[in-house]
Amino acid sequence: MVIDPMVGDLAGETAALREAGPVVRVDLMGAPAWTITAHAEARRLLTDPRLVKDIQQWGLWRSGAVTAEWPLIGLVDASRSMFTEDGPEHRRLRVKTAQAITPRRLEASRPLIEGITARLLDGLAERAAQATERAGGPGAAAHEGTSQAAAHAGTSGAAPGGGGPVGGGPGDGAVDLKAAFALPLPMSVVCALMGVDPELEPRLHELYELFFSTVTPQDQRLAVFAELDELYHDLVRQKTAEPGDDLTSALIQADEGGELLTAEEVRGNLEAMVAAGHETTVGLIVCAVRALLTHPDQLRLVLAGEIGWDAVIEETLRWESPSTHLLMRFATEDIEVGGTTVREGEGVVMSYRAIGRDREQHGPDADNFDIRRETPVRHLAFGHGPHICPGAALSRLEASIALPALFARFPGMRLAVPPEQVRNRPVLTQNELESLPVFLYS
Ligand code: HEM
Repeated sequence: MVIDPMVGDLAGETAALREAGPVVRVDLMGAPAWTITAHAEARRLLTDPRLVKDIQQWGLWRSGAVTAEWPLIGLVDASRSMFTEDGPEHRRLRVKTAQAITPRRLEASRPLIEGITARLLDGLAERAAQATERAGGPGAAAHEGTSQAAAHAGTSGAAPGGGGPVGGGPGDGAVDLKAAFALPLPMSVVCALMGVDPELEPRLHELYELFFSTVTPQDQRLAVFAELDELYHDLVRQKTAEPGDDLTSALIQADEGGELLTAEEVRGNLEAMVAAGHETTVGLIVCAVRALLTHPDQLRLVLAGEIGWDAVIEETLRWESPSTHLLMRFATEDIEVGGTTVREGEGVVMSYRAIGRDREQHGPDADNFDIRRETPVRHLAFGHGPHICPGAALSRLEASIALPALFARFPGMRLAVPPEQVRNRPVLTQNELESLPVFLYS
């Protein structure tokens, strides 16, 4: 199966992958690989030491059939970090980062997340009022939220790329919930956590949009890699000279068994945290909102307090896994899995979106979004084994603050376009919607 780099029909692709079996031969922009689509097989492989991240184990890389020109190379041959290493080296690189995201640090970031959320909600109300006024709509300025929005005018939290008006036509009162709310929130949070200057956030959004897109021209892609490397290099230098109360400073000072991480290792971990820590959470928030707006009976249960936001978050993670296809691991020897032999040197992808729809794990109605499931959802959306996501608790915290605050402020919110018009961006690895046009008021 060819994995569509334009992501024209993600739902159709997930269904076809599931149909094709637990281990499927795929083409990734010209590179053949195997992908895992089933929960049990994924769980098994994610703890199998014969599958490693080291690109030197990839037969296609060793033979030169795949080179640095391959459009997805940045997702496999990243700077040395916990994301790229295995075994004791992986543990050494990861342990301090994972340990530093303590419950205390998470709790300390709650007021920050609440503050950013409140500011973005004010901005949303203001945008909707402006859009409605431009459209000559009825008394938008009288809506709740507009006065707070005016009071906060000029504060940060402005959405990259504008955030509205969108939808049926300019000035129809719709706003893009992704650009104006879901997109800036996780980036601001992860930047604050890592000690990245907030002024860099708009540029980081631009760079990562180019980084993840499958249609970025090669020369521009290389320029993006170089600019990101330099930006993080400068940050590590600055934090070495003037440590702060942030995770990058903690990593610089960290030592495992007396050994400090090198500046390059700190930079790699920092890059991995920012890259992995924003777009996935954007996907979680946007997809949860879309799922609720397209399942109004379930939204009513949540708004009535009959079902908790945790159930919404876990069901969204399962049903619309933010990480769609995770690249890549390589077999150091032949591995039998799901009736297939993955040969030494072959690449293996985890198709987490398909894994979340596994009927053997989640029941015959796995394709339905249903927050009323009786047994707790045991999904693999954050991975499993040694590389399991160290940011899981943080992203759950972000969503558990953002979603209730959004619906408390705009309980009448509705989609501004038919659901089938909401498209994915050309990003192969994450579930990235182009936009989510909504009307904030019913
Ligand atoms: C790893 C998903 C949020 C940082 C992973 C993996 C998955 C994942 C599936 C494991 C990949 C694999 O090896 O197969 C998600 C999802 C998120 C999320 C769905 C949000 C809804 C975050 C956040 C951060 C973060 C907020 C940081 C603040 C990382 C890092 C790794 C990782 C650094 C690599 C860990 C390693 O290789 O040891 N994530 N993630 N993620 N995630 Fe997340």
